[in-house]
Amino acid sequence: MKPKIFVTRRLPEGAMRALEDNFAVECNPHDRVLTRQELLAGVAGKDGVLPLLTDRVDDELLDAAGPQLKIVANYAVGFNNIDVAACTRRKIPATNTPGVLTDTTADLAMALLLAVARRVVPADAYARAGKYQGWAPLLFVGADVHHKTLGLLGFGRIGYAMAKRAAGFDMKVIYHDVVRADPKLEQQVGARFVDKETLLRESDFVSVHVPLTPETKHIMAAPDFALMKPTAYVINTARGEVIHEEALVAALQAGQIAGAGLDVFEFEPQIHPGLLTMEKVVILPHIASGSIETRTKMGLIAADNLIAVLIKGQTPPPTCLNPEIYA
Ligand code: DGY
Repeated sequence: MKPKIFVTRRLPEGAMRALEDNFAVECNPHDRVLTRQELLAGVAGKDGVLPLLTDRVDDELLDAAGPQLKIVANYAVGFNNIDVAACTRRKIPATNTPGVLTDTTADLAMALLLAVARRVVPADAYARAGKYQGWAPLLFVGADVHHKTLGLLGFGRIGYAMAKRAAGFDMKVIYHDVVRADPKLEQQVGARFVDKETLLRESDFVSVHVPLTPETKHIMAAPDFALMKPTAYVINTARGEVIHEEALVAALQAGQIAGAGLDVFEFEPQIHPGLLTMEKVVILPHIASGSIETRTKMGLIAADNLIAVLIKGQTPPPTCLNPEIYA
């Protein structure tokens, strides 16, 4: 008999096929996030669970699943939705999907940066509305991107990929992280390590690439925006909670910074009403990893982890977040 798994939202076909070939799959039948009650009912009696970043995996859920649960295979690289310590206490491996979404996410961060600097979204709306009357010197003039300074807050895989893209635009790249990167990596993309204050003061674009942890929550708040240039922009493709959204709105309204390109929001899916009305903000619905290729690969990584634990008995599974359970 195939092991039973619960998938909390339908994934791209290639990924669903890999799961259905190997498991008895029960999948959320709706095109929406499950309610907590539906989620708890869905995981009951399953050997494996494949949640999304919209599903909280904690003691309550692990209890609801029952003692036969052997793996939680998150469909995301970020895993702030998972109480990994709770999984570890029960010796359940939790896994994520690192690597495959690095370039796709950096592509979108660059798209947001370009869009907000060059006013792509309001200019498109204007042209579509039939308002274009002919070329004009001041029509939707924005800010240059090339030769400007990009400040990367977080220099992990995605921050590094963003630096590579910035090199193509002749940008100067500075970064800050809790630990300085290997100088060889810095050299490859021409990035210079600076303290956070220098990064905020010198950058024309601050792009955030840190995971959400208790330490990074509100890593950008009112005092940080106050240090930025009034001509500078903030880009966030990481997690909404790393930015104090109320403070961001206040900084934008006060003209302390020039604009923002946001893919994630502090109280997702709610978006601060102040952001919705500002033309100098580009707003996307958390789609940074959203190419069909990448979303399929993310599902295949989750499938590999489930297969490793539930079929092959391979430990630890390939992208295990708590390998210490096997020590
Ligand atoms: C992640 O993987 O953490 C993204 O936010 C969604 O792909």
